[in-house]
Amino acid sequence: MKTQKRPIVIGNWKMHTMHTEGLALANTIEKQGPYPADVVICPPFTALSTIGCSLKYCQLGAQNMHAASQGAYTGEVSGSMLKALGVQYVIIGHSERRQLFFETDSCIHEKIQSALDFGLIPIVCVGETLQERNEKKTFSVIKNQLQKALNGINNPVSIHIAYEPIWAIGSGLAATPEIAEQVHMYIREYISQLYTPSFSQSLRILYGGSVKANNVEELFKQPNVDGFLVGGASLVAEEFINIINSTHL
Ligand code: PGA
Repeated sequence: MKTQKRPIVIGNWKMHTMHTEGLALANTIEKQGPYPADVVICPPFTALSTIGCSLKYCQLGAQNMHAASQGAYTGEVSGSMLKALGVQYVIIGHSERRQLFFETDSCIHEKIQSALDFGLIPIVCVGETLQERNEKKTFSVIKNQLQKALNGINNPVSIHIAYEPIWAIGSGLAATPEIAEQVHMYIREYISQLYTPSFSQSLRILYGGSVKANNVEELFKQPNVDGFLVGGASLVAEEFINIINSTHL
């Protein structure tokens, strides 16, 4: 049975949209609100300020942050800077950051702690490669990522976790509802051990990886799937709106 939690759908625009295009896209999404889910738009840094000012039904998220609050870190943006812009959520540990920008588990851990310190809600991404799945290492990979990410974080009240199998991201090959549910259930059990069963029950666990309007309903029927982290399909207003509207309970 699905527990009654408000669903959440997050659009990760990655490195797409000029700020003007982003504003137009955000406005189109806004016009169809309010929605049956929390909706978070994560545009590139350059569009955060422009888009943030125009949001009413949607909330603002960033795709990354640095763990330090300020300093000599050329090219980086801190959680305090995001907070000052009205950002509420931040994606941390996306597999593209891990793979292309060599982010380690310990760097992800520091970012999560910093996000929480600044009052941002971290969306912590975990997921296995195809090789790891084929070698039946999915659960151990996820456990290791979670353990290192959350180690020593005592009261992560607002945290969200996104299961994003790397083989499903941008591939058009989403996890089956059964696979998503298996891993989400595993995550919930592990979080229950790390913290408490009631915290684990209240935690929103998102699925990400080739989520589209035509597969979202089956995924959302799974008892432990509480929402979605959407990449490519979040750049097409109608598709994204259909995904959000498929999450009514
Ligand atoms: P996708 O990306 O929906 O394009 O597969 C998801 C993500 O990277 O968060």
